[in-house]
Amino acid sequence: MCGIVGYVGNKEVAPILINGLKKLEYRGYDSVGMAVLDDSNLTVLKCKGKLAILEEKMSQNYPKGFIGLGHTRWATHGKPSDINSHPHVSKSGKIAVVHNGIIENYLELKEFLETKGYEFVSETDTEVVGNLVEYNYKGDLVKAVIETLNEIEGSYALGIMCTDCPEMFVAVKKDSALVVGLGKDGNYVASDIPAILDYTRDVYILDDKEVVVLTADNVKVYNNLGVEVKKEVFKVTWDVAAAEKAGYEHFMMKEICEEPKAIKDTIGPRIKNGRVVLDDIELTEEYVKNIGKIHIVACGTAYHAGVIAKYIIEKTARIPVEVDVASEFRYRDPIVTDKDMAIIISQSGETLDTLFALREAKKKGARVLSIVNVVESTIARESDDVLYTWAGPEIAIASTKAYNAQLCALYLLTLELAYKRGCMSEEQYKNIIEGLQTIPDAIEDILGNKGAIQRFASSHCNVKNIFFIGRGLDYALSMEGSLKLKEVSYIHSEAYAGGELKHGTIALIEDGTLVVCPVTQDDLMDKMISNIKEVKARGATVLAIARESNEQVHKVADEVFTIPDVDPFIAPVAAVTPLQLFAYYMAVVKGCDVDKPRNLTKSVTVE
Ligand code: F6R
Repeated sequence: MCGIVGYVGNKEVAPILINGLKKLEYRGYDSVGMAVLDDSNLTVLKCKGKLAILEEKMSQNYPKGFIGLGHTRWATHGKPSDINSHPHVSKSGKIAVVHNGIIENYLELKEFLETKGYEFVSETDTEVVGNLVEYNYKGDLVKAVIETLNEIEGSYALGIMCTDCPEMFVAVKKDSALVVGLGKDGNYVASDIPAILDYTRDVYILDDKEVVVLTADNVKVYNNLGVEVKKEVFKVTWDVAAAEKAGYEHFMMKEICEEPKAIKDTIGPRIKNGRVVLDDIELTEEYVKNIGKIHIVACGTAYHAGVIAKYIIEKTARIPVEVDVASEFRYRDPIVTDKDMAIIISQSGETLDTLFALREAKKKGARVLSIVNVVESTIARESDDVLYTWAGPEIAIASTKAYNAQLCALYLLTLELAYKRGCMSEEQYKNIIEGLQTIPDAIEDILGNKGAIQRFASSHCNVKNIFFIGRGLDYALSMEGSLKLKEVSYIHSEAYAGGELKHGTIALIEDGTLVVCPVTQDDLMDKMISNIKEVKARGATVLAIARESNEQVHKVADEVFTIPDVDPFIAPVAAVTPLQLFAYYMAVVKGCDVDKPRNLTKSVTVE
C-alpha cells in the first residue's frame, strides 16, 4: 500500500526519487522519505505528511549522492509520524530499508532481535526487517537478504541499502508489486511503471522471492537459493503523458473524460465484422457449454462491475453466477469445482485479497479468467486467461474509466458465453454489439452536458446523507454511484434495491433527503416510479438518471439528468458517468482532495 522507488547510476539520485515519489503518491501519502548514500555516508530524510514537506526539508539539507531509495507511506503498523516513516535504519546505522506490504511475523522476530540487544524506535514491522538483515549480515548483503527472506512471512516489496556497499542496492518482492527499470545512466526499481517511465521503457517484472542486485551498469536477478535467473525484458509501449494531468485540474476528471477512448480501446480490437473475437483468451465451445458455475470475485468498484456481470450473464448465458468480495471469498471455503470458471476483476492487478481469492479458486480447480487493467500485474500473470481492459493508467484513487472498461470486457465475455451456449439470437447479439459501439458517443454527449450536474451538485453540497436506489442493473449501478460519492466527497451514502427500501431504511427518509435514482431499465420502470413516489411522499428530493425516451421519470423526479437512448441492457456503461461526475463535483464543491481522498490508496496490497 506504499510506494517505493530506487535508483543507482551516474545522475544525482534525489531529483529522480522525488520525481518517482510524485508518480507513486497515489499509493499512500501520509508520510514520505528517502535515504541517499554518498560513499558510506547515509542521509535519511523523512517526515509525516505529503511530498511537499519533504521537499521543504531537502532545501535545508540536500542529500547528495548517486544511489538512494524513496518511499511514500500508507500507514498499516504504527500511525503516520516522522518516526514511523520510511526509510528505516538498522541499529548500527548500516542498513536502510523501504518497504511496501506487511510482515506478519514481525512481533516474533522483534522479540528475538530484542534478546540479541536490538532496540526499536518505531512501531513499524519494517524496522524489524532492517535489523534482521543487519543481524544476518556477515559481509555479504545479498546473502543476508536471502537469509532474511527465509525468516520473514507476509507480503513485501523491499529496497535495501548498506553503507558497506555504496555502489549497489538490493530489492526483493513477494505478493507486492515491484518492477526493475533498465536505464542508460543507471538502473531503477519502483512499485509501478509510471514512476520510472521518464527514464526507461525496458523493465523486468519480478517474480516472488526473486532478489535483484542493482549497480549503475548492471542488474542481476537471483532466486531465493541465490542462483542467478535470466529475465526477459518487457517493453513498455504506452505513453508517459497518459499518466499525467494534461491540463485537467484533477486526474479524476481527466480519467472520466477518457472513458470514450477507454471503451473504444477495450472493445474496438475485439469486434471484427460484427462479431466478438476474443483471441486473447481460450473459450472453446465445449468448455463454455460445460461450465458448471461462474464465481466472480473482486473488491470495491471492480466488485460492482462483477454485480452487473452476474445480472447479464445469468439473464443471457443462463449460467449460475455467484459474486463475492474477495476478502469474503478467500475465507468462506466456497464450493468451487473443476467445472467452474472464476472471473477475477481488478484494475491494478495487485489487490492482495483479490490475488489470494484467485489462488483459492485455482486451488479448488476453477479455471481463472481475469479482467485486469495493468499489464503483467501479478493477477494477470497468475490467471489462466486475461482479458485486458485497455483503459490506460488510472491515477486518481477513485476508479472511473477502469470501471466502464471492465463493464465493456464483461459485456463482450457475456456475448461470447451466451452465443456459444446457443442462448442468444443473432438479432439480440447484433443489437448488443452495435449498442456497445455507440456508447463512446453517448458518453461524449453526457460529458458535453456536465455543467447540469455541476450546478445540481453546487446547490446540494450541504446534504449529510444521500441514498441511491435502483432496480436490476440500476441497483448494481447505484452501489457504484454510492461508493464513488462517499469516497471522494465524504458524504454518507447508501445504496438500496428500490424494492428493499421499505423494509427498514425508508425510516431515514425525511424532508429534504436527497435520493439519487438511476432509472434506465424499461421493464422495471413502473416499479421504480412507484419507489420514487414513495420517497417523495416522505419529503425526499429526487435526482434521476434516465434515458431520453423515459419521459415518465420527468413527471415524478425533481431533477432528471438525461442520457442518450442506449439499449437498457448496456445502459450501465453510460449511466455510470453522470454518477461519477456527481461524486466529482460534490467533492470539488466541498473542497475535498479529489484525487487523493483521505485514508485511501490506489492499490490495496494489504489485507
Ligand atoms: C474505488 C476503488 C476501489 C477499487 C478496489 C479494487 O473507486 O477504486 O474500490 O476498485 O480497491 O481495486 P482493483 O480494481 O485494483 O483490484
